[in-house]
Amino acid sequence: MTIMKVEVFAYLLLPFLVAFASVSSTNPPVKYESIFNFGNSLSDTGNYLAVGAPGLPFIGHLPYGETYFGQATGRCSDGRLIVDFIAEALGLPFLPPYLKLAEGPYVKTGVNFAVVGATALDAEFFYARNLGSILLTNDSLSVQVSWFKKWKSSICTTKHECDIYFKKSLFLVGEIGGNDYNVPFIFTGAPLEQVRPFVPLVVEAVINATVALIEEGAVNVVVPGNMPIGCIPAYLTTFQGSNPSDYNSKTGCLDTFNAFSEYHNEQLLEALKKLRKKYPQARIMYADYYGASIDFYYKPKRYGFTGGTIIACCGGGGPYNFNLSRGCGQPGSTLCKDPSTFVNWDGVHGTEAAHRYMAKGLVYGPFTSPPL
Ligand SMILES: *[C@@H]1O[C@H](CO)[C@@H](O)[C@H](O)[C@H]1NC(C)=O
Ligand SMILES: *[C@@H]1O[C@H](CO)[C@@H](O)[C@H](O)[C@H]1NC(C)=O
Ligand SMILES: *[C@@H]1O[C@H](CO)[C@@H](O)[C@H](O)[C@H]1NC(C)=O
Repeated sequence: MTIMKVEVFAYLLLPFLVAFASVSSTNPPVKYESIFNFGNSLSDTGNYLAVGAPGLPFIGHLPYGETYFGQATGRCSDGRLIVDFIAEALGLPFLPPYLKLAEGPYVKTGVNFAVVGATALDAEFFYARNLGSILLTNDSLSVQVSWFKKWKSSICTTKHECDIYFKKSLFLVGEIGGNDYNVPFIFTGAPLEQVRPFVPLVVEAVINATVALIEEGAVNVVVPGNMPIGCIPAYLTTFQGSNPSDYNSKTGCLDTFNAFSEYHNEQLLEALKKLRKKYPQARIMYADYYGASIDFYYKPKRYGFTGGTIIACCGGGGPYNFNLSRGCGQPGSTLCKDPSTFVNWDGVHGTEAAHRYMAKGLVYGPFTSPPL
């Protein structure tokens, strides 16, 4: 009687056990315990403000931060950034800025090394081309990686100890590289042909940083591509009056500049393919920022972007509400009523609403490959 009961029980349970075992062995979920982020204003959570935000002091005041934090935090948006939504989705706290940790306790759940204005290529590259004076910061990607190496010694000492810890970490290398193009395009109006030769070098700098992190013990690495820059109000303003055939008739974006972003992304993808062969033990993921945001411009109503797609919520006027010498938060700038109905916040950066949709597509949708 007892034996029979056990048999029946096992018989009923077996299919479940088998199903469970096969799911967990083919798709082991990585439970990330920390995030390390590198990049620029798209993901800086306070580093640039920690050093006084010399080139963009107004990011230290409202309306920056008005939607979520109720105060300015140094984030270049009205609220949370993509990296904040990724941290939330993984059940981790927002990443503290590295430059505010210097003397404080080390943080085991992650650190943010991104700095507003940071470029993938080192400052020397821009100084050598008479573009140095436009840089907001010298804290390029390689500088951020050197900070990481320094910080690392506070969290683990032996290689074995570090490897165990970093196996459960998520490394985000970017988005970075956008400023390497913004500097010549937005600030000098440089023609496409003049900036195109930067692309292989920018990609190489991103790859070099990724390699450096993998050699430090990173296993799970996400490398994002460039945004559709032809839809950014700053670009649309600088290159206003371009040939009408340069504009997309459905979105109003500059197709020629979006093609430039895609060119960068194709080169990055190729380079990542090679890197995966070289480091088969690492999980090198590509985050398609272009794909995760381009639909905003084609189907704005689907996302509630009824206020504007290529016009900034906050800015100094003009057809795209962007004026380089009268930025969001400066006297004479105007602010929209509801940022959640806009894709763009200040002429360069996205709104919290745009970041939320992008993060959703990156974490749960098809835009990170292989998936997170
Ligand atoms: C930034 O880098 C350039 C070129 O290396 C250098 O001349 C300049 O002094 C640096 N600026 C700061 C603030 O460190
Ligand atoms: C990438 O690393 C290689 C090897 O160290 C170096 O020669 C090259 O200059 C680096 N490229 C960039 C863009 O930093
Ligand atoms: C941009 O702002 C400056 C400074 O407030 C102003 O003088 C200029 O006319 C503005 N440009 C345009 C195109 O509105």
